[in-house]
Amino acid sequence: MELISCITDMHRKADALRREGKTIAFVPTMGYFHEGHLELMRQAKNWGDVVIVSIFVNPTQFGPGEDYERYPRDMERDLSMAGKVGVNIIFNPSAQEMYPARYQTYVEVEQVTQNLCGASRPIHFRGVATVVAKLFNIVKPHVAFFGQKDYQQLVTVTRMVADLNIDLKIVGVPTFRESDGLAMSSRNSYLTPVQRRDARNLYRALQRAQILAAQGVTRTELLVNEVRKIISSAPSIEIDYMKVCNPATLEDISEVTDTAVLAIAAQVGRARLIDNIVLKEGTRA
Ligand code: PAJ
Repeated sequence: MELISCITDMHRKADALRREGKTIAFVPTMGYFHEGHLELMRQAKNWGDVVIVSIFVNPTQFGPGEDYERYPRDMERDLSMAGKVGVNIIFNPSAQEMYPARYQTYVEVEQVTQNLCGASRPIHFRGVATVVAKLFNIVKPHVAFFGQKDYQQLVTVTRMVADLNIDLKIVGVPTFRESDGLAMSSRNSYLTPVQRRDARNLYRALQRAQILAAQGVTRTELLVNEVRKIISSAPSIEIDYMKVCNPATLEDISEVTDTAVLAIAAQVGRARLIDNIVLKEGTRA
């Protein structure tokens, strides 16, 4: 596995790979790998001749007072895990090179970033879209992989690629979970044992809503009340938002017709956790 830190070296390598006719599959990450990240890498391996993974804790997507400084980092462990999956290149640029003095260009995806996490983290998706666009320009992939766990991020990146005519395919990968259903996240490492136990209620609640919707309970208010009931039985979970949205526009809806996404964000101790589930409208028995 090759480690590249300098942007110019990455440009040259990507150009050379493309000249050789190789398909580049790319997985952007902030590191501190778990099975969810590895799943993205495995899928990338199936798609491309060369798998490139970036590890970059992107400062522009963290708001003031968020966890940029204390975001977990362990480069050695990450390298060993990626090596075992068969990743070919790790790209690990520095913040100084990505955002030098006088940096002033940002990508704004206007509508799909307004609701959900965009409402509570106002500069977050501008930072994500910007860094992902930069990484696409540097790594020059043919295909890039994003987790459905970060549903709004996946929609935002897909919109940006379409709007800016970036010539690559985006693949969304289903959420990888712990055995009790908790979505894997680097931030799960912040949880105490009690908080970790409480956190499994998040997915349980989402699953309950999915069953209800399939049984014909389509009013958002009813679904959200059920979810709240289950979550409030876990005292360390503080809900930030809980919304049923149109899966394409991410606008709130009051009734599930056809499909919808139920998205949730909660503070559990020091960790801000997010999760979501797709609801399919069923007919009442
Ligand atoms: P990070 O949180 O490290 O996640 C990297 C990728 O892994 C994202 O596409 C995310 O959706 C995916 N992922 C995380 N947990 C997952 C899980 N349990 N199952 C499946 N996929 C999962 O998301 C980011 O980094 C950053 O915002 C980034 C896109 C790299 C831009 O800085």
